[in-house]
Amino acid sequence: LNISVSSDGGNATSGHQYGFLHEDISNSGDGGLYAELIRNRAFQSSYRYPSTLEGWYSVNGAVLSLQNLSTPLSSALQTSVNVAAGDADGAIGLYNDGYWGMDVKQKTYTGSFWVKGSYSGDFNASLVSNITGEVFGSVAVASQSTPDEWVEHTFELVPSVDAPSSNNSFAITFDSAGAEDGSLDFNLISLFPPTYKNRANGARVDLAEVLEAFHPTFFRVPGGNMLEGLVNSSYWDWKNSIGPLKDRPGYAGVWGYQQTNGLGLLEYLELAEDMGLELVVAVWAGLALNGDITPQDELQPFIDDALNQIEFITGSADSTWGAIRAEYGHPEPFTLKYVEIGNEDWLAGAPEGWETYQEYRFPMFLQAINDAYPDIQVISSGSVLDGYDIPAPADGDYHIYGTPDDMVDQFDLFDNITIPHLIGEAAAVHPNGGTAWDGGLLQYPWWGGAIGEAASLIGYERNSDRILGALYAPIIRSLDRWQWATTMVQFAADPALTTKSTSWFVWELFAGHIFTHTLPATSDFNPAYYVAGKNEDTGAYIFKATVYNSTEGADVPVTLNFEGVSAGATAELTVLTGPEDPYGWNDPFTGVNVVTTTKTTLTADDAGAFEFSLPNLSVAVLDTGAV
Ligand code: AHR
Repeated sequence: LNISVSSDGGNATSGHQYGFLHEDISNSGDGGLYAELIRNRAFQSSYRYPSTLEGWYSVNGAVLSLQNLSTPLSSALQTSVNVAAGDADGAIGLYNDGYWGMDVKQKTYTGSFWVKGSYSGDFNASLVSNITGEVFGSVAVASQSTPDEWVEHTFELVPSVDAPSSNNSFAITFDSAGAEDGSLDFNLISLFPPTYKNRANGARVDLAEVLEAFHPTFFRVPGGNMLEGLVNSSYWDWKNSIGPLKDRPGYAGVWGYQQTNGLGLLEYLELAEDMGLELVVAVWAGLALNGDITPQDELQPFIDDALNQIEFITGSADSTWGAIRAEYGHPEPFTLKYVEIGNEDWLAGAPEGWETYQEYRFPMFLQAINDAYPDIQVISSGSVLDGYDIPAPADGDYHIYGTPDDMVDQFDLFDNITIPHLIGEAAAVHPNGGTAWDGGLLQYPWWGGAIGEAASLIGYERNSDRILGALYAPIIRSLDRWQWATTMVQFAADPALTTKSTSWFVWELFAGHIFTHTLPATSDFNPAYYVAGKNEDTGAYIFKATVYNSTEGADVPVTLNFEGVSAGATAELTVLTGPEDPYGWNDPFTGVNVVTTTKTTLTADDAGAFEFSLPNLSVAVLDTGAV
């Protein structure tokens, strides 16, 4: 392959080619990125999921019962747990085994719980082994409770030793003799380890850091089906996700479990701020997954809601919603350039879903947002590639979940598309030949899938004057409860299981070498797919490539010549190769990483060319650094 790259004639890119979508799927939010350790901390319920005692157990024979008191903790949190002595005496209480375990280390845990009832004495809060009963750390919390009011108790707990495993629980006990009628009511029992960037109510450190490490700069949120909701009366309403935790009712998650609303809009915005991510904020567009559609004459309140949401994000602290954001701890407005209307409106309730989107839902949102915020780029939740019209001045959103072959087909898909698009969700999900969602997904993302993704990403970068960026989804997956195997990061309570999928390595490599401009390059494609560009901030010339199914699996020799790079110049070539079996994956339980990274320093020959060869099923980046 002889590739000559011109030094001009390309296009400026968005600068934000890589990022991710977040929604709570596979416990990527509650029990995942959201650092709360207590599962079912407030016995929340919804039209779909009743309150339960899931995750809670009795200490010393205490009788636990869910109650809807006439004085609930708040209108949002109506159900609490009564802890009664029954036949027991002495210390009684309840414990929670977390999201399938709790990581206990010698660090400061921040906790709180609300109590109603008369109690004189101390509460005891502790982190305990489920296996041996060993108490790793405990703290006495002096009671401030009163008979008729809910009173919050806060504490810090520092274990004196690291627990040997994550098979641990958090317990609260009290002396039943000190409780006036032998019982107390509890609600909103919360425990956080230190969080990413020390944010209150923040993100789990290892998960946030492994995301940050793939160099994302684009963040679409709140995402996916979670935004839409199962029915129109239950969608991800941003207003339920802000403010004190006691005022967040929780949400009937669309992926089979109740959500807490703990990872709310402000938490998402702060995460974006902490990671330096450009936001694409999605607003609800009047369509739910069951095909419920909000009629035109009932849509205006939701448009007002979207405008309020934008004001909450971008308004000064003097504006109505900006003042609320300031009250909740963030006086500075956030920058917001992109707003997407809905999620996959072409899919739910087809064909009426899209018809009503075209007819009135999208135009009404577009007009209102353009009028109020002319600098915001509105994005449609559909794509011209799916056969849908995107009215000016909107951009489109294209989602692709496919086989490696499908992903390779993305390579030139956008070459002749003039309307800018976000690739709002992308991942290889099925092996070639597979289509089924039930059983058709491999157990973990696999190397051949990651190669397909590389070809698609190269295709998007070729067109990155019109492709705003490509977002991986779903991005995080619990190993204890998951709906999609697709992920960049898999985790469990034990941080040793936080592992990167094969896709993480490919996206990290490409996202770590950003073009500000593409550059025209001459040569054929297939089996090598490539793109070249320049980063005008660093002065580097960059080449990205993958080889997909070369003839008989042969290496592809490359001679790469950049106009502007002279003989003797050096470049770093990074090549990712996978296991012999392209279906190999990174198994979190063995810790084996099947991706091999090889870095070589190359020197341009007398003709100014870099010579190297790329193995079949490899991914490569050559970066000259400042020239
Ligand atoms: O990423 C999983 C789901 O796939 C998203 O929720 C939805 O937008 C898409 O269909």
